[in-house]
Amino acid sequence: MKRDLISIEDLNRGQMEYLFRLTDEIQNYYIIPGEGVSFRTMASLFFEPSTRTRESFRVAWRNLGGSCLIGFDAAEISSIAKGESLADTARMYSKFVQQGGGGLIVVRHPKTGSTEIVAEYADVPVINAGDGIGEHPTQALLDLYTILQKKGRLDSLTIGIMGDLKNGRTVHSLMLALNQFNDIEFFLDAPPILWLDVEFLKRIKHKVHRGLTGVLPLLDVLYVTRVQRERFEHLEEYESVKGSYKVDSEVMSQCGQEMLLMHPLPRVDEITPEVDKDPRAVYFQQFANGVPIRMALISALLTKAL
Ligand code: NCD
Repeated sequence: MKRDLISIEDLNRGQMEYLFRLTDEIQNYYIIPGEGVSFRTMASLFFEPSTRTRESFRVAWRNLGGSCLIGFDAAEISSIAKGESLADTARMYSKFVQQGGGGLIVVRHPKTGSTEIVAEYADVPVINAGDGIGEHPTQALLDLYTILQKKGRLDSLTIGIMGDLKNGRTVHSLMLALNQFNDIEFFLDAPPILWLDVEFLKRIKHKVHRGLTGVLPLLDVLYVTRVQRERFEHLEEYESVKGSYKVDSEVMSQCGQEMLLMHPLPRVDEITPEVDKDPRAVYFQQFANGVPIRMALISALLTKAL
């Protein structure tokens, strides 16, 4: 049986904690885990723009000793531009990976649920690197790892989330991941048209409050996201909400001294650069955790440790 990572719900708490321990070993002791991935192949299929996720998978693969990296960074240069279906693309890359010594496929796609289709037609493990407004499980892993690193726990947390809750796949995976932990309280803040889908909200087991007024001093984490411009059908809708929330020094002055300010990046204008030097702003450390967490994940998937 091959092992995919499509939703963060594909991992239970114990498996996430195993990955976090492995990531600690990689970070702190420079351990390259498990059997090497030399003479193996990773297919990196990016149908959508990406900087951090794409590059960190590539660096992780290289660090693990991976020999061959195939794929594309823009669908226009592959046969998809000629109308090839996702299923056929999956079959093709799955075969190349097998012929390249075995390995895995990493896929990012603008359509929700598309990575599941790739997984269905591929005989090698598939990792979801972001599917439309659906999920982004590896981002949730690095988000949780950053909280654990800084706070020493993933239970008993008060978490504020501000931004595009409706279209933000990182928010979805983060909230679903925290379902596995206890005593979490969410305070969510978004313009009404960017509020979470009601069906999604039903899947969240923790208490969810609307608005951040008065609670900034109580937060352990404030997680901010950009308005996902590319998901809007009408530009006027985007224009109506862009710039409607902002974290600046004034907002930070209302937050507790131990709070973590997080962001999956890229940011547009929702966190002003003046905040970057505030020690509570951890988004650059957060993104840097992307390489070791993905090393741990790739290694665990290929050695069947998960
Ligand atoms: C996020 C994404 O692609 O969903 N970026 C990332 O992978 N760090 C967030 C975003 O694009 O706003």
